[in-house]
Amino acid sequence: MISQTKIDMINLMNNALYAVAKQIVTPHKGILASDERPSAADKNLEKAGIPSNEEIRRKYRELFINTPGIEQYLSGIIMHEETFYQSDSTGKLFRNILKEKNIISIIKLDEGLEELPNFPGEKISIGLDNLKKRAEKFYEDGAKAAKWRSVIKIGNDLPSPEVVHANSIILSTYALFCQQAGLVPIVEPEVLIDGDHTIQKSEEVTNKTLKDVFGTLKRYKVDLKAVVLKTSMVIPGNKCQVMASPEEIADATVRVLQATVPEEVPGIVFLSGGQSSEDATINLNFIAKKEPLPWEITFSYLRALEAPAIQVWQGKDENIQKARNIFMTRLRECVLADSGIYQK
Ligand code: 13P
Repeated sequence: MISQTKIDMINLMNNALYAVAKQIVTPHKGILASDERPSAADKNLEKAGIPSNEEIRRKYRELFINTPGIEQYLSGIIMHEETFYQSDSTGKLFRNILKEKNIISIIKLDEGLEELPNFPGEKISIGLDNLKKRAEKFYEDGAKAAKWRSVIKIGNDLPSPEVVHANSIILSTYALFCQQAGLVPIVEPEVLIDGDHTIQKSEEVTNKTLKDVFGTLKRYKVDLKAVVLKTSMVIPGNKCQVMASPEEIADATVRVLQATVPEEVPGIVFLSGGQSSEDATINLNFIAKKEPLPWEITFSYLRALEAPAIQVWQGKDENIQKARNIFMTRLRECVLADSGIYQK
């Protein structure tokens, strides 16, 4: 028999998880996903003409984290382990800066993607080894939530149900270890934009994927009241000849979410997934107009929030102020879109 003290402890821990999950999706706030792995951050920076190394990456994170006033718009920031243990130029740990701003430190826990043998072109996310220890350590060091990204590729005969399900099992395993360690899992099965697929195909695949993810989370007894879903919007592939209007995107996205996401999930956050900043904002605006929905919804963008500011920054101190102004404008626009009141 479990002792009353143990039951009280479990209840206390669960209540703390529920509170954090709700805080992540605080109305009129969103999440900054500044959590690419170092190699991906280097690629992004170099694409913008900024030669990168560890110190440049630190400055790049500082550009955003030390922007005055972000707490007005952000409930959380997702960080890679490198950033989680880095400090700003005065030596203050980024995660302590966020704590003072009442912004939740969210740690990226997956360790990237690996092609699954026998399934050419399809990937599973890796990082389950040592996950229990890593999750406990990040919790001890101040993280309150975590993120894990899987990707689902659309193509001829793709995705295969086996790979979709393999990723669901991995996401569920991750979610269990997170909750056990006291971290709220953000579960991110991203249906990729790459390809010439139509919005109808994207809807079909997102539907199947989210059904499989939530079916598996339930079977693994993950507490859905302490889970946040991070999902792609239902959009046509980036090489599709047939465009879709923001109304069509919002309709398809909400249709899928209503068919697949249990109401006990407190919130859903969207990734931008290669959409332009403007498209990611307009599409969020149309989705938000479809409220009331049973979950809080908001944004958790990386490229759609950071790219315009990085372009202006160029790695130079003299451009920091200008870049931060652009970042704040992007945040303001996304928060307006999150309420369905953004106007171009
Ligand atoms: P994008 O908004 O650039 O898609 O990134 C969000 C993210 O967290 C991907 O894992």
